[in-house]
Amino acid sequence: SETGCLSIIVLGASGDLAKKKTFPALFNLFRQGFLRPNEVHIFGYARTKISDDELRERIRGFLSQGKGASAEHTEDLLMFLQLIKYISGSYDSEDGFLLLNKEISDHESSKNSQPGTARRLFYLALPPSVYPSVCKMIRRYCMNQSDLGGWTRIVVEKPFGKDLDSAEELSAQLGELFDEQQLYRIDHYLGKELVQNLLVVRFANRFFVPLWNRDNIDNVQIVFREDFGTEGRGGYFDQYGIIRDIIQNHLLQVLCLVAMEKPVSLKPEHIRDEKVKVLQSVLPIKYEEVVLGQYEGYRDDPTVSDSSNTPTFATVVLRIHNERWEGVPFILKAGKALNSRKAEIRVQFKDVPGDIFKCKKQGRNEFVIRLQPSEAMYMKLTVKKPGLDMSTIQSELDLSYGLRYQGVTIPEAYERLILDTVRGDQQHFVRRDELKAAWEIFTPLLHSIDAGELKPLSYQPGSRGPAEADELLARVGYVQTHGYIWIPPTL
Ligand code: BG6
Repeated sequence: SETGCLSIIVLGASGDLAKKKTFPALFNLFRQGFLRPNEVHIFGYARTKISDDELRERIRGFLSQGKGASAEHTEDLLMFLQLIKYISGSYDSEDGFLLLNKEISDHESSKNSQPGTARRLFYLALPPSVYPSVCKMIRRYCMNQSDLGGWTRIVVEKPFGKDLDSAEELSAQLGELFDEQQLYRIDHYLGKELVQNLLVVRFANRFFVPLWNRDNIDNVQIVFREDFGTEGRGGYFDQYGIIRDIIQNHLLQVLCLVAMEKPVSLKPEHIRDEKVKVLQSVLPIKYEEVVLGQYEGYRDDPTVSDSSNTPTFATVVLRIHNERWEGVPFILKAGKALNSRKAEIRVQFKDVPGDIFKCKKQGRNEFVIRLQPSEAMYMKLTVKKPGLDMSTIQSELDLSYGLRYQGVTIPEAYERLILDTVRGDQQHFVRRDELKAAWEIFTPLLHSIDAGELKPLSYQPGSRGPAEADELLARVGYVQTHGYIWIPPTL
């Protein structure tokens, strides 16, 4: 149901995720009229003993001005901040949660909410180690009646465990307390505009439908690069590494949408069923198709161990054993402290047989989906070089969003996903069996790294990463185009 008093409870309210992502997303939804002041209230909960105003002050600076910094913005900001109340308590004692429940209930009755219609959204911006105890407390003390369309939902975010066993244990603990329909596992990549666009492009366009398979596609790359290191997050990162931080979740989710079969319908369960099938079809990773890296200077961070074996870069080739994809390498690549910041999907097609133009060395057809920055889709293709000569050149068909959709604001991933949780749409959230299948793929490799059997190669910060990764790409069939660069058009 979409009506009735709504309480949004942000647990871990003074932490990084809440300040940088959760509250700004809530504010944007508020500004657009999705959270109406006459029915919504926001509660921050954390251990620190601070006042309502102190919390408001802490998050204020993160509520972006956007382009239209104006009096109107300031007014919205003040109204929004007034909706936030802070409650301090521990994550495992009943006192705090009893108090929290009382505050929520007071709010509900002040809005004359009919019992059974109230909606409670618990957003856990917390480390997963406290998920089980927090969920137990919510289950025991903070549930509402849901007989008249009201609900209680729990939003959680990775890391969901460290490997298959720990993830399954966590899933089982939460599963005892809540139904799958109440649990929203966020992978914020699923909230990005061009990730949400993937199914549309693939299944609504005759261009792609007949080409999207092993007969035409030579290889697929899904790439994430950042041009900064783990500054400030070394303690967290060193426990997890780039595979758990980016590849096993964000890039693998993208892979599912690129590789899956057409779902029966757009119902969330139909889509998620197809994603699970892709994951279950992935063959065990071969270690000769893995390159790991760690940037020089990573261990200088005082929160990182001096002998850390944690990769900050990885290229991993996945092979999907099914009729559509046998023989096509899916190359997942992610790295910190590289030479650029971007995320993209690059689908490279096979050579045209019987090349009468002798243009093979100019490069192959590629379909590139740039997730960020500057969202775009472009197709690299060969055309006649304009002019009197009959020669060929690489060019592109380009759909750059900034140019094509001027004046359209692309929503933040978290904004979209939080709205989905309020609306009860689980399409863009990770189901329990999906999570399990994702861990099954990477757990053997992760255990080998943790045991020191595989070692990362060192690379210069600000570089492309270890040269061995490019060699691996070439070995599995990727052909780099030389002499062509696509320059994103600007307004
Ligand atoms: C997070 C990772 O999940 O995603 C971070 O923990 C990473 O390490 C971030 O920086 C990247 O997200 P985005 O949306 O900036 O690509």
